[in-house]
Amino acid sequence: MVLQAAPSGNIEARITSLLARMTLDEKIGQMSQSTSMKTPLSEQIKSEIRSGRWGSFLNAGSPQDRAEAQRIALKESRLGIPLLFGRDVIHGYRTIFPIPLGQSASWDPDLIEQAARIAAHEAFADGIRWTFAPMIDITRDPRWGRVAEGLGEDPYLASRLAVAMIHGFQSDSLSSTGAIAACVKHYVGYGAAEAGREYNSAWIPEGQLREVYLPPFQAASDAGVATLMPGFNALNGVPATGNLFILRKILRGEWNFKGMVVSDYTAIPEMIQHGYAANTTDAARKALLAGVDMEMVSTTYFDHLKTLVEKGVVDRRAIDAAVRNILRLKFQLGLFDQSPPVLVEPLAPEALEIAKRLATESMVLLKNDAHLLPLSKSNGKIAIIGPLADSPVDQMGTWAMDGRASDVQTPLAALREKLGDARVLYSPGLKNSRDLSRDGFKDALQKARMADVILLFLGEEQILSGEAHSRAFLDLPGAQEALVNEIAKLGRPIVTVVLAGRPLTFHETAAKSKAILFGWHPGTMGGPAIADLLFGDAVPSGKLTITFPRTVGQVPIYYAQLPTGRPASSSDLGIPLGNPVNPVGYTSKYVDVDFTPEFPFGYGLSYSDFKYSNLRVSAPRLRMGGLLTLAADVTNTGAVAADEIVQLYVHEDVASVSRPIRQLKGARRLHLRPGETVNVQFPVTTKDLAFYNQKMQLVTEPGTFHFWIAPDSVRGMEGKFIVE
Ligand code: GLC
Repeated sequence: MVLQAAPSGNIEARITSLLARMTLDEKIGQMSQSTSMKTPLSEQIKSEIRSGRWGSFLNAGSPQDRAEAQRIALKESRLGIPLLFGRDVIHGYRTIFPIPLGQSASWDPDLIEQAARIAAHEAFADGIRWTFAPMIDITRDPRWGRVAEGLGEDPYLASRLAVAMIHGFQSDSLSSTGAIAACVKHYVGYGAAEAGREYNSAWIPEGQLREVYLPPFQAASDAGVATLMPGFNALNGVPATGNLFILRKILRGEWNFKGMVVSDYTAIPEMIQHGYAANTTDAARKALLAGVDMEMVSTTYFDHLKTLVEKGVVDRRAIDAAVRNILRLKFQLGLFDQSPPVLVEPLAPEALEIAKRLATESMVLLKNDAHLLPLSKSNGKIAIIGPLADSPVDQMGTWAMDGRASDVQTPLAALREKLGDARVLYSPGLKNSRDLSRDGFKDALQKARMADVILLFLGEEQILSGEAHSRAFLDLPGAQEALVNEIAKLGRPIVTVVLAGRPLTFHETAAKSKAILFGWHPGTMGGPAIADLLFGDAVPSGKLTITFPRTVGQVPIYYAQLPTGRPASSSDLGIPLGNPVNPVGYTSKYVDVDFTPEFPFGYGLSYSDFKYSNLRVSAPRLRMGGLLTLAADVTNTGAVAADEIVQLYVHEDVASVSRPIRQLKGARRLHLRPGETVNVQFPVTTKDLAFYNQKMQLVTEPGTFHFWIAPDSVRGMEGKFIVE
C-alpha cells in the first residue's frame, strides 16, 4: 500500500529549479527547525523567517501565529518557501484518544486509522501539517516510561497498527485536505533501553534487531510514511542519530526510504555527551553523513555546515540531498499552493463517538469472578473510591498537549449520569496516585460501608509514564494498596478499574477484587466507555498487547521467548517448603515467584464465552513459495453479542536459529451474535515464516511447524504442517 506519491517528475523538477536558486544559507535554513516561536510573534522571529533562517517550527505559537508566520514566509521571504509546522499529535489533538498502548489493545486497525484521521483533521485546522507520530518502538520493559506511547511488544501487530495510524494521518495523499505528514520514531531500539531506564544504552544483536525492532519501521517505510526520527539512544554503542548502519545501509539502502529524516530534540549535539562526537562541528558532520536532513531545535547545522562546505569537509551535494527531501515533503503537502486550512470544529460528535468506541475496545477485562460484571443498572448503591475516578488530566495520559481537562468526561461524571446521583457515593480516598497519606481513608470507608458494590479507580497519574518517566517499581504508587486492604475488610464485592500508562504489578489488589478492568489512560471519553462496560451497555473485548509481569523482577518478560534448553513447565509452579534435596528441578524459572506472567500477551475476557473448534489446514504440506490456509470455527456460546480477537501463532520445531515458542502471525476481530459461528481463516505463505539465519539472510527453512488458533498467547487449538 503506497500512501505517499513516490517522487514525481513534476515535483522533482520543481525542487531542482528551486535548489538552483537557493543560497547555501537558505538551504541550511531549510534544514533547521525551531521551537522558539512565542505568542505574539517577535520582530526577531519575523525577520528570521523573511531571511529564510528556519524551515520548520515545532510545538510553537498559536494558530494565528502560525498563519501570520506562514504569510510572511510565502510573501516576504526571497523565494517564498513555506514553513512546515510540526507537533506531537500522538494520540489526538483536541479530542484525545487512548494512549497508543491502550489503542493497540483494541487490535482494531480500522478504528485506529479513523482516530488518527480525526486527530489529523483537528490539527490541520490549526495549521499543523506534520506530527511526530506514530511512535513504534517495540518494548518488552514496562519500567520504560515511553511504553505508554508504543504499540506493545509484538512486531507483527505493531507493524499493522503503525500502518493504520500512518494512513490515518496521511490519508491517501499528503495533499489531501486534513492530511498531515506522519513521522515514525524513534529509529531504532530506543525501547530496549537497558534496565528500562530512559535514554539508556540499547544493545541488540542484529538478528533480534531485524526480527523484533526493525519490522514496524520497515512496514512504515513500505507504506510510504513521510518522515522518520532517530532515537536518543546509542544502539550497540553508536548513537542512532549518527548511525550509518541503520540510517544509510538499512533505511536508505535496503528499504530505499524516500522520506525525510528529522533528528530528535537536540539529539545531534547530544552525540558529544555520548562520547561519539568531539564537538558541535563534529556532531553536525556525523549527523549529515548519516542522513539526518533536518535538525530539531539545536543549531549545529546552522552554526557549522556552511564552514564545513566551504572547507570541503562536507560535500555540497549532501546539503542538496537533505534539502531535496525537505522540499519534496513541502511540495507533497501542497504547502507551496497554500490553501487556507479547512476549519473543522474539534470535539465534533463523530470525533467523540470514535474516541468512545476506541476507549471501549481498548479496555481489557482481566478478571470477572462469578460474572459479577456487568452490574445492574437498576438497583444497588455504588461506592466510587480512588484517586483516578475523577482526574481528567491523568485520564488523558502522556503527550496530550492540546487536550483540555474541561473536555474530559471522567468515570465519576459518566457513572453519575448513567445511574443518577442518588445511587452513587464518591470518595477519592487519596489526593492523587502517589499520595501516602491515609487522611482520606475514613471518608472512603464510610462511603464504602453504605454501598452494595465498590468500584475502585486506581492506577498512575499521567506524569508517571511518558518521556523521562521510567519507574523502577511497577506497583500501584502511593498508599493505594493500603486503601484496597482497608476497603477489602468490609467484605463487599470490589470491582477494580486501573487507569495507567503501563502494565502494573498489583497481585494483592487483584486477589481482593472480584473483577478487574484495565483501562490504560483512555482519553476524553474514557468515563462513558468505562460506565458502558461496567453496566453492560458495552461488552469488553480488548486483549493485552504487552505481557503483565507478576513482579518487576521478571522483566524483561514477553510471550515470544526462546524455549531454552531446560524449559520450565506448569509442574514447576510454586516451590515446596522445607528443604528437600533438589526439590525444584533444573528448569528455567525462579525459586521465589511463579515463572509465568500475571496476565499473558493476547489475554482478555468478555461477558460472553467462545468455543474454538474444527481446526483445519488446507494442506498438510507447504512447498516453498506456496500458501496454505489455517482455519477454525469460533462460536459465541454466551448470551450476549460480543467481539473476540482471534489470534494465529506459529512455531518452527527445528531451525538453524532457535525459534520463539510462539510468534503472532495473524489476528482477526470477530463480532459474533449469541450462538453464531464464524469460520476464521488465516492464509500463510512461506514468506510469513521467514527469519534471519546466522548469516543475517531472511530465509524460510523446511521443517515441521506447530500453529495455534487461539484466544491468547498461552491457550488455543494446536495443529501442525510441514514446509518442504
Ligand atoms: C521529544 C521526543 C520526541 C518528540 C520531540 C518533539 O524529546 O523524544 O518523541 O517528538 O521531542 O517534542
